[in-house]
Amino acid sequence: MTHKQKLNDARDDIPFLKNEIYVDNASVSPLPRRVQAASEHCNTIISEQLRDAKEIAKPYFDRGRTLAAKLVGSSPQNVAYFQNTSHGLPLVALGVDWRPGDNLIVCAQEFPANYLCWIQLAAMGVEVRQVTSPGGRLEPDLIREAMDDRTRVVAVSHVQFYSGFRVDVSALGDLCSECGALLVVDGTQSVGALQPRCRSRGNRRPGGECP
Ligand SMILES: Cc1ncc(COP(=O)(O)O)c(C=O)c1O
Repeated sequence: MTHKQKLNDARDDIPFLKNEIYVDNASVSPLPRRVQAASEHCNTIISEQLRDAKEIAKPYFDRGRTLAAKLVGSSPQNVAYFQNTSHGLPLVALGVDWRPGDNLIVCAQEFPANYLCWIQLAAMGVEVRQVTSPGGRLEPDLIREAMDDRTRVVAVSHVQFYSGFRVDVSALGDLCSECGALLVVDGTQSVGALQPRCRSRGNRRPGGECP
């Protein structure tokens, strides 16, 4: 099937597009028929087969993990389900074994779901370093300037929600590997549209210098 045919198939599956033009703003989006059907199927299982629902659902969850992993170049065992970003990222933030003197870097213009969970760590003694993105551009150099050898986390959205700026996560990944910091990427605006690639966390280079 050609790319054009695939695109037409996808469009045909979205009834809203018959009479309207939809320009993505990521807050609300028109529902494809297949998503509607899957939701209904899920509700039917819960309402009619509650006792066995977990077992019936397992192959669907497994398939979802496989497909999601494919989208981000990872493997299914690295994929976990969360209700939404606002639920998942605080679990990441609280999952780090923070030590006294640690710091993290986050952009002051981040989407709230990828901001509030980080700044709240200040109450636990973590130094929160907020960088700003002039003209909406969150360049790796801005992050580099804020980093040191106590930086444990750099949190960014791959695509910034208010400017559409595409952050160079590959360059940030290199910076974080050098420092042994964790790079946390919110892919809400990019996964599916771009091709973010996950890779395993690099270890702090023995004797390596942080920028
Ligand atoms: C960068 C970013 N993260 C997350 C979200 C959504 O957060 P949640 O999944 O908690 O609704 C959005 C929505 O626009 C977003 O732009």
